Amino acid sequence: MTPIVEMRGIQKHFGAVHALRNVNFRLMPGEILGLVGDNSAGKSTLMKTMTGAYQRDGGEVLVDGRPTHFRSPQESRDAGIEMIYQDFALCGNMDVGQNIFLGRWPRRYGLFVDRARMYDEAQAVLKRLKVDVNSVYQKVESLSGGRQQSVAIARAISFNPRVVIFDEPTANLSVMATERLLETMAELKKQGVAQIIISHRLTDIFEVGDRVMVLKRGENVGDRYVRNTNEHEVLELIVSGTPETALTADEALARAA
Ligand SMILES: Nc1ncnc2c1ncn2[C@@H]1O[C@H](COP(=O)(O)OP(=O)(O)OP(=O)(O)O)[C@@H](O)[C@H]1O
Ligand SMILES: [Mg+2]
Repeated sequence: MTPIVEMRGIQKHFGAVHALRNVNFRLMPGEILGLVGDNSAGKSTLMKTMTGAYQRDGGEVLVDGRPTHFRSPQESRDAGIEMIYQDFALCGNMDVGQNIFLGRWPRRYGLFVDRARMYDEAQAVLKRLKVDVNSVYQKVESLSGGRQQSVAIARAISFNPRVVIFDEPTANLSVMATERLLETMAELKKQGVAQIIISHRLTDIFEVGDRVMVLKRGENVGDRYVRNTNEHEVLELIVSGTPETALTADEALARAA
């Protein structure tokens, strides 16, 4: 099977910092992948390199097996890849519907904002996600952290992506909100959406993930199917894993099995 996204030999420097060293990555269709590693391991940088938020210094990115070079997140969005950033990037003083369709409010005659359509569609996206945001007319700044998170996810989902990247989505969520988010991820998986979750909470990854990939100081140190590993082993890799030589996607799949 061809990975939906594959990255090969990715290099990224920030001045003197070598943030990614020859990193390999793959995401299979419909899969939920946990991406873990200590602070500064390079997780967010790797994902931003995928989406075009950062430009890589070396290596390849393939989508459906085809080499790509996204110059901005807009280009990866057009290819069906959405990233939800840790800070959500919402406008607090606008309401839920306006945020979901920020920058692309539906218009009538290309002129007037079609408010009815915007709120109807916002409602439909929230329903698809089964999230409990009470009203699409509510200002985002009046919502709890968990519900703001839901709005950010609804916005991402409204682009009908094939790949969604969640960067530390549960860091500030209550136990209940975390459970709801993990249910949302499972629901998206049923709809065929492949997902990446970056999290320091291994329990989240063991609850919804199919596979877990470990980075340490910008290098690959492990790749395991969740069913073949446990939190203890993954923690061990995070803390004291040794760099793996570059594996091709097929070799990595065989090793993880
Ligand atoms: N825009 C940037 N400018 C300069 N250095 C950066 C930038 N983004 C990341 N880095 C550096 O790259 C390295 C990897 O950072 P990154 O944010 O990818 O780590 P992370 O694994 O996401 O960590 P965390 O778990 O803390 O979010 C770090 O040394 C960081 O300081
Ligand atoms: Mg990060």
